[in-house]
Amino acid sequence: MLVASYKNCLMPLSIMLSLWLLNTHPSPAQEKRQLPEGDQCIICHQEEEMLPADFNENDIHFQQGLSCAGCHGGDATQDDPDESMAAEAGFVGVPSKAQIPQFCGKCHSDINFMRAYQPRIATDQASQFYTSVHGKKLQQGDPKVADCSSCHTAHAILPAKDPRSSVYALNVPATCQKCHGDEDYMQDYGIPTTQYDEFAESVHGKALLENKDTGAPACNDCHGNHGAIPPGVASISHVCGTCHVNNMQYFAATKMAQEFEKEEIHGCEECHGNHAVQKTFDDMVGVGDKSVCTNCHGEGDEGYEAAKQIRLNLANLVAAYDSAAAKQMEVQRVGMDDVDIGFLLQESHQSLIQARTLAHTFDPVQVGGKTDEGIEKAREAHALALREIKDSKIRRLGFGVAALFATILAVALFFKIREIEKKR
Ligand code: HEC
Ligand code: HEC
Ligand code: HEC
Ligand code: HEC
Ligand code: HEC
Ligand code: HEC
Ligand code: HEC
Ligand code: HEC
Ligand code: HEC
Repeated sequence: MLVASYKNCLMPLSIMLSLWLLNTHPSPAQEKRQLPEGDQCIICHQEEEMLPADFNENDIHFQQGLSCAGCHGGDATQDDPDESMAAEAGFVGVPSKAQIPQFCGKCHSDINFMRAYQPRIATDQASQFYTSVHGKKLQQGDPKVADCSSCHTAHAILPAKDPRSSVYALNVPATCQKCHGDEDYMQDYGIPTTQYDEFAESVHGKALLENKDTGAPACNDCHGNHGAIPPGVASISHVCGTCHVNNMQYFAATKMAQEFEKEEIHGCEECHGNHAVQKTFDDMVGVGDKSVCTNCHGEGDEGYEAAKQIRLNLANLVAAYDSAAAKQMEVQRVGMDDVDIGFLLQESHQSLIQARTLAHTFDPVQVGGKTDEGIEKAREAHALALREIKDSKIRRLGFGVAALFATILAVALFFKIREIEKKR
């Protein structure tokens, strides 16, 4: 009662509060944002209809009160073009492509300047950039690689977390695709131009682009935002391992992983690919046509035998699980209690999931230990299901006997009544 009336008086209050909040703190989407006031660069370029083609007033810099002069230099308080755009006032005009990293880095590499705006923002973009293929080639004078504005734009820069930003997770693949998917543009380099198309069809791409799951990797999660492009042989497992932690740890502990590294074979990529990573299935391990193991292992060697045994372990668990699951359906059909059976099956399934990850130890003993646990749970579930089905039969028999007894009683009663009536 007390709670209910308390809620009743809170309701209008909370509506008023949210209306007030809406009025004073509109969300970014609703906000009609302002350009820096009295800024002569903007005023004149707007009047002259000379704003750059990609100009967007939501750009974070304009919204933080930074003028055109913040980037291009010059004096934003002067309305005379000769004074405002004078070299003496620091005007640099349009930067060349090679100048852009320092152009942006003027502020973004200055920790004291940036801290005044955002205490936690990183200030290593330019230095990281010069470690990447893009940055190195830009320094060598390659005009086609990405500079800061290729990925961020020059006049429509939004924070990475803003869904409208060119570097928002869901938009990153399209931003890279502009160049990397363009055969003509990339023809001098002799590298594939299919990364986007393959990615879009992969488990990762579908999760990101179709299901909007920002937990799935975009290009930059594997390649880095500014540096570390592309990941080297030794670091590929680490790249994948930032999300698939157990797979990485199991694999890293194997002799196979050490051998891969020596021979410069690319860890996870060798079995899963990089851009076209597909959903996995049990037949990938084993010695059948779809097995990846037989690419390198032949009959008789340790890897071949291990593959066969791991496949068998998995198959045994799947069979035990399926047969218990079928019995669970029967239990449901006869209307008996299947809750505990459900729990056991869940545990069994959990073991199956873990066994598939443990397959990355490539050790039949470890996988077998896990599949045995799962088989045990499936057997318990199976036994419980059989018991429930038996109980239901006994119960049905019990009902039958009771019904028969009741009928006999009714008939006997009927004759008894007739007899009494006849006597009367
Ligand atoms: C009174 C008008 C006026 C003002 C004020 C003004 N500009 Fe300009 N700006 C122009 C015109 C007109 C041009 C094109 C002709 C030219 O290149 O001089 C131009 C050109 C530019 C260019 C391109 C230069 C190039 O080399 O192609 C940049 C960049 C620029 N302005 C930035 C600024 C900045 C930054 C400020 C403020 C510090 C500013 N402008 C102030 C009128 C103005
Ligand atoms: C965040 C930094 C930044 C700010 C702020 C900025 N610019 Fe630029 N601008 C650049 C870069 C980088 C280039 C060169 C790359 C390009 O052309 O895309 C450029 C190019 C230009 C050009 C030549 C190319 C074109 O698109 O016409 C003009 C003109 C220009 N800017 C004017 C302005 C004016 C006017 C403002 C203020 C309204 C402004 N800029 C604000 C970074 C900036
Ligand atoms: C190859 C594309 C690419 C290039 C080139 C690039 N960036 Fe970025 N940048 C990104 C991506 C992608 C993100 C962030 C994604 C995220 O955090 O989700 C980002 C994030 C940022 C951020 C936000 C803070 C942070 O570090 O995460 C700043 C600031 C930034 N970049 C500035 C720059 C500057 C300055 C340059 C040039 C020296 C540059 N970027 C070059 C793609 C690029
Ligand atoms: C005059 C200094 C200055 C220059 C030059 C400058 N920036 Fe910025 N930039 C800032 C400030 C300040 C912020 C806002 C930080 C905040 O409050 O979010 C910012 C924000 C950003 C962000 C959003 C960061 C985030 O929160 O995700 C990106 C991306 C970015 N800048 C890229 C660039 C690029 C690319 C260039 C060059 C074309 C550039 N900046 C040039 C000062 C500058
Ligand atoms: C302005 C066009 C452009 C954009 C945008 C761009 N790149 Fe590049 N990138 C290039 C060019 C050109 C090269 C040089 C190719 C080479 O040397 O093999 C390159 C090189 C690379 C390489 C190294 C390839 C190799 O040879 O091993 C990787 C990885 C890469 N880019 C990833 C990305 C990612 C990820 C993005 C988006 C976040 C991106 N690029 C955005 C043009 C671009
Ligand atoms: C799941 C991680 C992952 C994702 C996501 C990813 N890449 Fe890659 N990419 C790799 C690996 C691993 C390599 C191979 C590196 C090597 O072999 O040295 C690679 C190689 C490349 C190369 C070099 C040329 C080639 O094809 O081998 C380019 C360019 C590239 N990626 C661009 C992209 C672009 C663009 C996207 C987004 C559409 C993307 N990548 C998404 C992991 C990834
Ligand atoms: C940013 C995190 C992240 C990174 C980095 C990443 N993945 Fe994934 N991966 C995911 C997510 C999330 C899913 C699940 C997608 C879905 O199905 O919804 C997934 C799914 C998978 C699957 C399919 C699993 C299944 O159930 O069959 C494989 C295989 C895989 N990733 C391998 C890789 C490899 C190999 C790399 C490195 C080249 C990698 N991943 C890098 C997050 C990541
Ligand atoms: C790209 C080639 C390649 C593929 C694919 C491959 N292996 Fe291997 N494997 C090797 C190499 C190289 C070694 C180390 C040399 C050796 O001991 O024979 C090895 C060793 C092994 C070993 C014994 C040493 C140890 O403890 O790591 C087992 C077990 C094994 N692999 C199982 C598998 C299974 C199971 C698969 C399939 C899921 C598989 N391998 C796929 C190349 C491969
Ligand atoms: C020698 C081949 C091989 C290598 C190397 C390999 N995998 Fe796998 N991976 C497999 C096989 C086979 C399966 C399917 C197991 C199953 O479903 O029974 C699998 C399944 C997976 C799955 C789905 C099952 C799960 O664990 O969720 C993911 C994710 C995965 N691998 C990620 C990775 C990552 C990350 C790496 C690198 C650290 C890697 N794999 C290295 C062969 C390999």
